[in-house]
Amino acid sequence: MSRPIYWHKTIDSTMIEAARLAAEGCPSGTIVGADEQTAGQGRLGRHWHSSPGDGLYVSFIVRVSHLPARTLAAGLAARAAIAEITGVQCDLRWPNDLLARGRKLAGILVNSEPSALVIGIGINLNHQSFPPDLAPIATSLAIESGHPVHRDTLLPALAAQIDDWLPRDPAEVIAEFQRVSSYAWGRRVTADDSLTGITAGLDPTGFLLLRKDNGEVVRVLAGNVRPVE
Ligand code: BTN
Repeated sequence: MSRPIYWHKTIDSTMIEAARLAAEGCPSGTIVGADEQTAGQGRLGRHWHSSPGDGLYVSFIVRVSHLPARTLAAGLAARAAIAEITGVQCDLRWPNDLLARGRKLAGILVNSEPSALVIGIGINLNHQSFPPDLAPIATSLAIESGHPVHRDTLLPALAAQIDDWLPRDPAEVIAEFQRVSSYAWGRRVTADDSLTGITAGLDPTGFLLLRKDNGEVVRVLAGNVRPVE
């Protein structure tokens, strides 16, 4: 599929530019990327470390409706592209953190714009080190695979996997997520530090189910899922 790609040397956040392009009516599949972001956005209002040249920082504008399953599909797409290009097999932490050896390798932020979804993907490619606050919890493809990874190799594979996974039936996406994610079943976690329980699969919409210690099963709608060791 031929698609517009807007590449920036430096940008505040590709999410902001992608939202602008979506409002202007750009075609579905359009990509906005940058070598560096000065105000990279993470989930839940966090900052995304976006040092120049080390990572892949892209946003896809996709004209599909927003179902939670699309968020999961984006994670599956990134996982498949990483495996295809580097051989690194990532775990997925609901809804769509990509982990290697329990450390964060990539993150995904999905924003619902009036006429499109903006799917922002940040993948740590060639970092050999991280700022002190991230060092214990982050990793990169170069660290995991032992080889440098060029974004020009990974981006086409990622785009092809997004095209493949985004339109899929939610039931298929949810089934695949539950198959590959170590977080889907039987994992003791907290959600937003306020809810603790054992994961009990996903509901038919794609929300995580948590069995609390009193036996009650609740849905996690969003938030920060972390393991309790
Ligand atoms: C997360 O918190 O895990 C989501 C991180 C998403 C980062 C990507 S990098 C490209 C795009 N632009 C942004 O500002 N954020 C997303």
